[in-house]
Amino acid sequence: MPTASASESSSNQPESSNASGSIDHVLVEDRLFHPSAEFTAKAVISTEEQYEKLATAARENPDEFWRAEALEHLHWFEPFDTVCDWQPPHAKWFVGGKTNASYNCVDAHVAAGRGDRTAIIWEGEPVEDGKPRDQRTLTFAELQTEVAKCAEGLTQLGIGVGDVVSIYMPMTPELAIAMLACARIGAVHSVIFAGFSAASIAERNNDASAKLMITSDGLYRRGKILPLKETVNEALENSSTVEHCLVLRRTGEEVPMQEGRDVWWHDVVDSQPGEMAAKPLDSETPLFILYTSGSTGKPKGILHTTAGYNLWAKRTFQWVFDHREDDVYWCTADCGWITGHSYIVYGPLSAGATCLMYEGAPNFPAEDRFWDIVERHKVNILYTAPTAVRAFIKWGDEHVDKHDLSSLRLLGSVGEGINPEAWMWYHKKIGAEKCPIVDTWWQTETGGIMMSPLPGITPTKPGSCTRPLPGVVPSIVDELGNSVDSEHGGKLCISQPWPGMLRGIYGDEERFVEQYWSDVPNKYLTGDNARCDTDGYYWIMGRIDDVINVSGHRLSTIEVESALVSHPDVCEAAVVGRPDDCKGQAIAAFVTSNDRGHDDEFRKELKLHVRKEIGALAQPDDIRFTAALPKTRSGKIMRRLLRDVAAGRELVGDTSTLEDLSSLAKLQEED
Ligand code: PRX
Repeated sequence: MPTASASESSSNQPESSNASGSIDHVLVEDRLFHPSAEFTAKAVISTEEQYEKLATAARENPDEFWRAEALEHLHWFEPFDTVCDWQPPHAKWFVGGKTNASYNCVDAHVAAGRGDRTAIIWEGEPVEDGKPRDQRTLTFAELQTEVAKCAEGLTQLGIGVGDVVSIYMPMTPELAIAMLACARIGAVHSVIFAGFSAASIAERNNDASAKLMITSDGLYRRGKILPLKETVNEALENSSTVEHCLVLRRTGEEVPMQEGRDVWWHDVVDSQPGEMAAKPLDSETPLFILYTSGSTGKPKGILHTTAGYNLWAKRTFQWVFDHREDDVYWCTADCGWITGHSYIVYGPLSAGATCLMYEGAPNFPAEDRFWDIVERHKVNILYTAPTAVRAFIKWGDEHVDKHDLSSLRLLGSVGEGINPEAWMWYHKKIGAEKCPIVDTWWQTETGGIMMSPLPGITPTKPGSCTRPLPGVVPSIVDELGNSVDSEHGGKLCISQPWPGMLRGIYGDEERFVEQYWSDVPNKYLTGDNARCDTDGYYWIMGRIDDVINVSGHRLSTIEVESALVSHPDVCEAAVVGRPDDCKGQAIAAFVTSNDRGHDDEFRKELKLHVRKEIGALAQPDDIRFTAALPKTRSGKIMRRLLRDVAAGRELVGDTSTLEDLSSLAKLQEED
């Protein structure tokens, strides 16, 4: 721990900074920001002793700790008898008990007499031509009825316990309702971000043997309509397990509906009585699958189950976001990613929080859209991504200055490391130097936040996700899996099971074991490198594998390569990340082709091809043609060298194993 304690501090001022207050060093970041005494006084965790007590109990006596947590924070239809059955790498939590995540998120609050509290404030994409904005609020009681109606509709469509439901929807309340309806009846949702292509949807449908798809006619994005149903129709041509498609009317556009397969939400859901109770489910009932990129071309279906995930999402939400009764909380993620699952739906709703949900883009109709929303809804807690913060910086302070942001008391960051410059801007411009920033490190696999400042007590250092939450026991190991001097860094592992941990990769036990549990016996391998400083603060240093992080989204370079190679005129492709001011990493592709000319038209065609194969988020930023890719004599592409070329850096390190230097030299000349 840093020596100065939070309670000694009276303001959120840096303890040390360079003369100009600007950042000229990134690696040696020694500034420390304390939460204000005022913030600390009201915080959920307000003393270092409180944190130590929780962390020690969770580390030294996990069974007792998690038993008490689960009994206090989840509703049990039947009590569990075993807290954690840990047979590495398989953990079962709260064995023997029956609960329901939909009950915990919705019914529990109605049963406790809080049914008229606002659960969701929804802000749709603004409609142009002076028409009113699209807005809706749902109380917990209203949400209960909507979720029950949807559950009844799903049941009518033949969906039951264990059936997989793919959801490809805009950020409307019905997306959260559909997720909770699945949870209510024990169906397993697989939310697919609504920017993925038909081929990506079909791949996920087939991998999970999805029985039902839920989508909408379309979605609004920056004033335009994106035709979701058309994309889904194309996907369904290659999704043989899908029996029905439930379609929400959102844009009102005419869409092709297939007789016998496709049904409208307003026919199947809206007409239901809305009385279906949540089904008591075994703790380990699968709750959802969420696909994420790994180091191969095939996305992994990360599996989370009911009780452990729900508890982790709820408690980490309460600890990290310091949730208080009347807060308006806004997480700007999309429910298509894990952040939306854990911190728009399951975490905040089971904590009874009022959660803002936003459909549109941050710069439509103007670059002040977020600040307009914060001001109008008096948002207290804002959770967003570094890529958004960097975009705000680029768009200019004037968009922020137009609005009163005084309602904000806490800021969060997720998805990638936040670089100190962006951290400082967020702190000063958005947080008015009074809001603690929680830089939260976690992954799809971890289910919820693993390392983060606790805003009432942890002095923050820009760029560090600080310390592990109670129950998280990190360790840093070297190439051989031996624990190392953590100051120098190494592979980040987690050495004790935690309730929110993934339970597997759907349908692929071998990959689950190989990917996460093989390098270091009985420790979960995160795939990130990290170091820990003398204060016990962790600094995430990027991925070990061929996964890149573009605007906070995980992408496998091999997925993009496979898409490129599927173009008939491409022979070989190598994809690497290169630094980008806004996105964090941009996608650089090196391509060898047949005798087709290397012109801009071909480049454009390839970009569109990747967009069609995977989705817009995977479209390469640069495409560079080359006569040959740099390879070792054994035929392995030397990505390290391409990364240097893509970044415009001097080539460093050993090139002696390279088969042919000439093409690389040529690529460098072109720079
Ligand atoms: O490399 C880490 C980076 O994002 C990866 C997880 O990506 P995903 O499963 O898509 O989940 C994103 C949202 C939780 C991690 O392995 N990452 C995420 N948050 C941070 C981060 N890197 C540094 N600092 C963070 N706060």
